[in-house]
Amino acid sequence: MTGGTSRIVVLPGDGTGPEVLREATKLLGVLAENDGAPWKLEEYPGGAQYYAKTGRQWEPEAEAATQSADAILLGAVGWPGISLPNGDLAGAALVLGLRQNLDLFANVRPCKLHPGVVHRISEGYRPVWAPENVDMVIVRENTEDLYTPTHGRLSRARSTEVAIDTRVITRKGAERVVRYAYELARKRSRGAPGDGVRRLTCVDKSNVLEGCRFFREVFDEVGTEYPEIERDYAYVDAFTQWLVRNPEHFNVVVSTNMMGDIITDLASVLQGGMGFAAGGNIGHEHAMFEPVHGSSPKYAGKNQVNPIAALSATAMMLRWLAERRSDPKLGAQADRLDGAIAEVLARGSARSYDQGGTATTSAVGDAVADAVRSRPA
Ligand code: IPM
Ligand code: MN
Repeated sequence: MTGGTSRIVVLPGDGTGPEVLREATKLLGVLAENDGAPWKLEEYPGGAQYYAKTGRQWEPEAEAATQSADAILLGAVGWPGISLPNGDLAGAALVLGLRQNLDLFANVRPCKLHPGVVHRISEGYRPVWAPENVDMVIVRENTEDLYTPTHGRLSRARSTEVAIDTRVITRKGAERVVRYAYELARKRSRGAPGDGVRRLTCVDKSNVLEGCRFFREVFDEVGTEYPEIERDYAYVDAFTQWLVRNPEHFNVVVSTNMMGDIITDLASVLQGGMGFAAGGNIGHEHAMFEPVHGSSPKYAGKNQVNPIAALSATAMMLRWLAERRSDPKLGAQADRLDGAIAEVLARGSARSYDQGGTATTSAVGDAVADAVRSRPA
């Protein structure tokens, strides 16, 4: 598939989701001004707040559109106090449902600290987390583990006695995500910031859990096909302190679903906070991109949250489409957007509240838009 127009389905979702995706679609518009737009956007409502209003998480045509889209851009879903009759997160269809139904098996979360970004630990200290020390990608398995719907309750006389979640690790699930991570390590020629080693770290709890032992076995098996990549191992508990103490050691990290969920939130602190953490849910046929932060009910409607995560997710999407469609023009647009983001952060002229500044969500978006306009095409 070369060139042509990509159909991008936009799902703003709940809370601050629509606010950050407004900036994302604004930036796509600005990129199109100069270079033309080899894409078409289709936006659909959905999520917890939509469910509260309509009794449906989204409309059937929205779901159908995601099945045939070239890429999906998701804001955030979830709202306090709104859940489905079975207790699940209302809006789950748009995130967990799509990961499952489109088989988006690799959740790819880059963690890079840009020059100019402040973070809570660096202030007043000589920062361990200098930009040159933080540049890794965490790859999280996205379709199994504790997220499989093999759970339930044993109730007697309408009172719960036991609640059970079952952890499922399959060869197929482990192998494809591990392979994805090795391929990524192969592409990242710079290696780990500390020593330049092309390292892939397997994060698990294989000293205790059988599923983790199996995951690590598969990691070793697949690794024999990648002799140029250094195989590295960390138990998840130890990993959390190494991540904070020695982020420069890490290049690509692969883990199971639930552990990956937790360690990527921790890693976001190294890059300035959740306002900077972008992710791609990648499958063989489909992909969905999203800021890792949630719907942030506390900040919703205030035009206050940091849109950089959503903008970086948009750049990731363009880069994925570029590769899939063999369209270097899309790749150049991704570079332009990433370059503009880095420039605005380095200048520090549009800092949102999480950066100690007063710039609104739309002001940060406008600053990135100006930077895009002033960058050569
Ligand atoms: C994430 C989120 C989701 C998850 C929630 C919203 C279901 O925390 O994308 O990391 O647990 O995967
Ligand atoms: Mn999470």
